[in-house]
Formats: sequence, structure tokens, C-alpha cells
Amino acid sequence: MSSKDNPLIIALDLKWSDALDLAKSLDPNTCRLKIGSQLFTSVGPESVRKLNSLGFDIFLDLKFHDIPNTVQKAIRSAINLDVWMLNVHISGGREMLLAAVEECNKSKRKPLLIGVTLLTSLEEPSMEEVGISLGIKDHVLKLAKLSSHLGLDGVVCSPNEIKYLRKEMGDKFVLVTPGIRSNSNPKDDQKRTSTALEALSSGANYIVIGREITSKENPSQEVNKILKEIYDLD
Ligand code: C5P
Repeated sequence: MSSKDNPLIIALDLKWSDALDLAKSLDPNTCRLKIGSQLFTSVGPESVRKLNSLGFDIFLDLKFHDIPNTVQKAIRSAINLDVWMLNVHISGGREMLLAAVEECNKSKRKPLLIGVTLLTSLEEPSMEEVGISLGIKDHVLKLAKLSSHLGLDGVVCSPNEIKYLRKEMGDKFVLVTPGIRSNSNPKDDQKRTSTALEALSSGANYIVIGREITSKENPSQEVNKILKEIYDLD
């Protein structure tokens, strides 16, 4: 792991003024920012434009899951905003995924297209309730293989899935991992968690961290602490 890999993505699940204050206290050379449903629903495309203008790469985490035509057009809109990474639910199916890949490949500013396998807040009893009968490992692997076959760049997966996905999917497949918690912090609604170091040394390319940073009194100090841990990996 080298500092050039810049693996830290901070989830800005915050109100806009707090998100902006946090962004201004950070260095875009050492981390990237994730805009999810909360911020995008309240602030809209302006949130992407503003944070881009501060020099940050933006992961637009809207987890598109709709009919192919709608997803394709949503992706076109996201690309026009100049996002660095975006994602779709792999369970949207082959046609939807192909439409997403086609739209990204058309673009000169091609973003990384990432598939969501299974939310890191889900465990087996809740999977059964929504009709998923395979175990977590088999289900996630099946979706990862489908997304790789159809041309997506990688997947979002929990810390528990990194090792076997890295082994099965090879080095070029991008693994983005939320559900990061230090051992002393509460898991909140996340179920399948690990520390930042464990996730990176298991083979994740990017780690997504939200509340572990944003709930702290001094979030930028927390970011520096995590960066130090990451760079000590070298
Ligand atoms: O606060 P916390 O570190 O749990 O935030 C994790 C972030 O990663 C949230 O913004 C959540 O939406 C996102 N995420 C996730 N699981 C996925 C995909 C994204 O937790 N499968």
C-alpha cells in the first residue's frame, strides 16, 4: 500500500454545512469524498460541483436500481457532473448493468462503475426474508462474477468478503469496502465490519468510512489518525 493509492473515501452523510466544513478541513490529495442519498437529496448536484471545485474526487453513491433506460440516463447525468466513481445495484440485472456499462464506456471522462453486492447492514436472516436463499459468500461471489463478466470495474463488499473476492476475481477488480469500525467503536447499523487496516491488508482498494469520522468531536483529527495507520502499512 502506498500513499499514492489514496484509499480513503469519507462518507459525507451529514447536513450540507457540516459536510462543507469537514471538506474544507481536508486535503484532496489524501482522501476522496462520498456523496450519498442524504446529501444528494437535500443539496442536489450542487454538492458534487462544489466539492469537485475544492479538488476532491467524488464517489456518487446513489446505488441506481431501476429499468435500464432510467439507469442509463441517470448515469449520463452523473457523468456530466464529473464524478470519479458511481454505483448500481447488481441485482438490477443483466440488461440494467449493460446499459450502465455502455453509458460509462461512451464517456471521455469514464467514472469507475461499481456494483453493490449486498448491503453491509444485511445478514442471513434478513436475506432470507427478501428471498435470497444462497449464503452470503455464494451470493456475493455470484454477483461479483456477473458484474465482472458484464464489464463493471468492481464491487462494493463488506470486510468479510474481501479475501475470497480478491482471490477469485483477480488483482484488477476494484473492491470498495464500507462497514469500517475500529474495535472500540459501536457498529451502529453495520453488521459485517472490520478495522481500516484489516480491510486494506485483506485486499480492499478503497475503504469507505462515515460515522467513525463524522461523529467525532474533531473529524479532521480522526482522518489524520486513520491516514497515519494506513501509511504505516507501507
Ligand atoms: O457511517 P458508516 O461508516 O457506517 O457509513 C458507511 C457508508 O457506506 C454509508 O454512507 C453507506 O451508505 C455506505 N454503504 C454501505 N454499504 C454498502 C454500500 C454503501 O454501508 N453496501
